[in-house]
Amino acid sequence: MKELVVAIDGPAGAGKSTVAQIVARKLNYTYIDTGAMYRAVTWAALKGSCSSENIEGVTQLLQRMDISLKYTEGQLQVCVNGENVTAAIRTPQISRSVSEYAKLPAVRQAMLIRQRQMADQGGVVMDGRDIGTHVLPDAEVKIFLTASIAERAGRRWRELKGKGFDTDLEQLTHEIAERDRMDSQREIAPLMQAPDAILVDTTGLTIDAVVETILLIYKERK
Ligand code: C5P
Repeated sequence: MKELVVAIDGPAGAGKSTVAQIVARKLNYTYIDTGAMYRAVTWAALKGSCSSENIEGVTQLLQRMDISLKYTEGQLQVCVNGENVTAAIRTPQISRSVSEYAKLPAVRQAMLIRQRQMADQGGVVMDGRDIGTHVLPDAEVKIFLTASIAERAGRRWRELKGKGFDTDLEQLTHEIAERDRMDSQREIAPLMQAPDAILVDTTGLTIDAVVETILLIYKERK
């Protein structure tokens, strides 16, 4: 039976990666976390003290950068040139800087090529900001996942607390809103709902309920 492409976009903390991973597992599809790829670029740039204004430096960095997304016991492992950066790309410092690098044309072009290659056989659930609009505009299933800013900030706060980061909720709310603003206002492939995407507001919904909703939409398209 033909395998479909599922695109899930939305703002920070809407629950995309949690939900996309479960949907992928249930469909026996590959999950591709494109945010992790932009985070990996940011990690490498910061490590090499390469600012987002140094376009030449970022371009060179991309040329020698191998990003791999692999699953070990159901957990996504992200490696940059063989180094495991899974935890390092989730720090507040990376979250604060990622949108500055993600708006650069060279970065977006390099990620676009890799993401399309990863999806070209179908059978993928890809999440991000521009999947339904730019990366995979022909995806059979397009979801735009969102939730109130209070709920999204609260989820991120609990997630960070669980990882041992002591973050101020008010500051985190501000940072998330700022990241959404930058992601929505950039020139290339901004965060927005594709005209043919279905809006799913996860405010007050359980993860199971969101997964069920997406699987129902998937079955309708199949
Ligand atoms: O999904 P996550 O919050 O990990 O994404 C981190 C950042 O990567 C986003 O805030 C955005 O700047 C960038 N991103 C993007 N396009 C995507 C996925 C992520 O610009 N498709």
